[in-house]
Amino acid sequence: MNSFEEELRKTVDGRLLVPGDDITRYTVDWTGRWKSTALAVARPRTVDEVVDIVRVCQRHGVSIVPQGGNTGMVGGSVPSERSIVVSTESMTAVGKVSADSTITVGAGLTLSALREVAQSHGFETGLHIASAESATLGGIASTNAGGARVMRYGSARARIAGLRVVTANGDVIDRRQTLPKDNTGYDLVDLFIGAEGTLGIVTDVTWRLVEPNADTVRILFRFGSVDHAATSLPTLRRLPGVEALEWARGQDILRVARHLDAVPPMDTSGFWVFAEVAETERTKRDSGDAGLLTAAEPVIEQIIAEADLGTDDVIVAESANEQRAVWAFRESMSEAISADGVPVKLDVAVPIEHFASVCNDVDAAARSVDPDSRTALFGHFAEANFHISVLPPEGTAQYSEEVADEIEDAVLALILGAGGTISAEHGVGRAKQRWLHRQRGQAQYELMKQIKTSFDPDQLLNPGVLFPDTSIAHNEETP
Ligand code: FAD
Ligand code: MLT
Ligand code: ZN
Repeated sequence: MNSFEEELRKTVDGRLLVPGDDITRYTVDWTGRWKSTALAVARPRTVDEVVDIVRVCQRHGVSIVPQGGNTGMVGGSVPSERSIVVSTESMTAVGKVSADSTITVGAGLTLSALREVAQSHGFETGLHIASAESATLGGIASTNAGGARVMRYGSARARIAGLRVVTANGDVIDRRQTLPKDNTGYDLVDLFIGAEGTLGIVTDVTWRLVEPNADTVRILFRFGSVDHAATSLPTLRRLPGVEALEWARGQDILRVARHLDAVPPMDTSGFWVFAEVAETERTKRDSGDAGLLTAAEPVIEQIIAEADLGTDDVIVAESANEQRAVWAFRESMSEAISADGVPVKLDVAVPIEHFASVCNDVDAAARSVDPDSRTALFGHFAEANFHISVLPPEGTAQYSEEVADEIEDAVLALILGAGGTISAEHGVGRAKQRWLHRQRGQAQYELMKQIKTSFDPDQLLNPGVLFPDTSIAHNEETP
């Protein structure tokens, strides 16, 4: 055992995995596209152990990839042969719910575990992502995760009141929220949110809980074309109590039906919008308990009239079972696609006025690289957010990195041409790193690089994420 490994083992009281142990769950990403190895996987339990790990890695010039549930979609959470993984899986402490409905938890707590704690205290988390069983609060903070209810509760940034972070030089930045208001100097919490593990290792997250819903109803609308749906978005937004507007194409719902081996409760043609309306006890009282559906009726009628929908173009799911059944055909999209091969995943958004044209052109952009590529599209309609998954032809497991880059370039050129963004919610990671400069322009890109250099001059943290890996942390001698 070399001195590096020995020193590292001591910092985490033996909770260390090394090559030879089964570390694939830490070194291959959820999509299967990013495969790698690691010098070691350290699993600290306390902030002091994280500090000790950073100091050992500093001394030996070994870089660190902070990792939570490893469900990230942009290759940001996988290590290289010259780095270690710091997994927060053992950092799952749960604090008390404070008078202002916030709670501080360990970075390794999963979103679904936080949801259970929230519900046991009569609250909800506000953020809902299909990876909740594995995605951790540290990862959700570091990717500024979005999900299906951003239109009502905002992304992770809106939900996070404070963080505790260990920086690249081993300092502990404690901004766990204790005061309802504290307006002193730069907002360091906001800087760490969405930094994708490049500025510090999040050890604790203070989360703003929300009131639970008393009732929800899910209403699905089938539009004949994307254009029709796009023109109806303003009216869809006026559904009383609307908190989610998701979308998927009929042809991609068919893939989910095959994957779930279930008969879809909707026709698999057209363009489906999945709407969710909800009310809390308070809004129920305020509205005189008119009932969600009664209140929504006039707007539903208006949508039908505007887009000339037929009665079988609208599905109302009232019971919990019906709601689960219809929503599964949106929530299981990623799983169904990954069951058909390793996708090149893009997560973009465009101005709503270009939504329809871009949606129609994406297939052609992918096919300009591989005429036999298979493209799946779905996403968060409220934000004109597309999740584009480009699969290789049947029988081919995955694209080579070169072809994957060409596909990304063809699609992202279309998106940037429409004034869109190369990442609406998953972040940049390693996957989109070469596009960040084009997205943000010279001045912003240079300023972000200066921030990275001032926080992490030796590029100890997640080299290759956001910016090219020019780390000097890889010293010659094997650590
Ligand atoms: P990881 O994948 O472990 O890491 C992600 C990034 O954060 C990496 O750069 C990593 O270095 C960094 N990081 C992780 N933990 C820390 C830490 N403690 N300190 C510093 N940096 C850290 N995302 C959405 O936004 N919306 C969705 O609706 C959504 N749905 C999904 C559905 C499925 C089925 C899957 C597989 C993924 C989905 N995602 C979605 C993507 C992913 O779940 C989110 O990006 C999530 O926030 C990642 O959390 P994680 O703990 O898995 O982080
Ligand atoms: C989703 O909205 O389902 C996620 O962001 C996952 C994905 O894009 O695959
Ligand atoms: Zn998403």
